[in-house]
Amino acid sequence: MRSNFDWLSPQSHPELSPQSVHVWRASLQFESEQLDRFAITLSEDERARAQRFGFERDRNSFIAARGILRDLLARYSGCGPGDIEFVYGAQGKPALSDGGTANPVRFNLSHSHGLAVIAVAREREIGVDVEKIRPDRAGDEIASRYFSAEEVAELRALPTEQRAEGFFLCWTRKEAYVKALGEGLRFPLDRFRVSLSPGKPAQLYGDAGARWSIAAFDPSFTPEAGYAGAMVAEGKDSRAEYFQWK
Ligand SMILES: CC(C)(COP(=O)(O)OP(=O)(O)OC[C@H]1O[C@@H](n2cnc3c(N)ncnc32)[C@H](O)[C@@H]1OP(=O)(O)O)[C@@H](O)C(=O)NCCC(=O)NCCS
Repeated sequence: MRSNFDWLSPQSHPELSPQSVHVWRASLQFESEQLDRFAITLSEDERARAQRFGFERDRNSFIAARGILRDLLARYSGCGPGDIEFVYGAQGKPALSDGGTANPVRFNLSHSHGLAVIAVAREREIGVDVEKIRPDRAGDEIASRYFSAEEVAELRALPTEQRAEGFFLCWTRKEAYVKALGEGLRFPLDRFRVSLSPGKPAQLYGDAGARWSIAAFDPSFTPEAGYAGAMVAEGKDSRAEYFQWK
């Protein structure tokens, strides 16, 4: 798995080749001045959505993640962050409104506990997920409810001290796939299988694995932070590259 130390900070904006999937990580902790700078790039409906969050922390994370997303997409598209227009799929997946033009840029975003990951590609659907590894959320009951029978067996066979990590490796890989499809958690998660054993390569099995590629990474800024991340991209020829947003 990609470790937390080799995310590149490019001096200039990196070239996005047809095979590349650029995976960007960013901290979402900002002072109010920077949050204000992000907020002015947001659309009216995004600002209205931000106001509906009950907790300030969630509101600020949303504003920062959308601000960073707009900053990145503007650089790939050659326009200003405030000029980006989103459209939404039936299950809420955002896409660029001019995604049908030549060389369309596709993206997906995930955030968890103050950290965001944004994946960007050309002409291929992608999904990304990041989660903080929390042993209290890695229960056997949730695994039995959402994971396939093979995944539950693989998880139970892990040494106890690896179970929470195995659970979140499984969860992020599954969620990245259903986000790539645009279906989200509406898609039956037990109908496909991913690998989950720590230290083993990320795999998507069966029909899904024949058409989509998967990559797992650790987006943590410090080794003890404990996050898991995964990206799923359309096609078997995609290549993930990892960058740090500044
Ligand atoms: C998409 C979904 C899996 C996100 O789960 P999560 O772990 O809470 O959140 P993440 O941080 O990983 O991802 C959220 C981001 O994914 C993107 N997203 C939203 N819906 C998506 C979808 N259907 N497919 C892919 N990406 C989606 C958005 O960018 C969103 O962040 P933002 O709105 O703050 O920009 C979950 O919300 C879901 O299953 N949604 C679909 C079902 C649904 O609610 N449908 C009705 C809405 S129209």
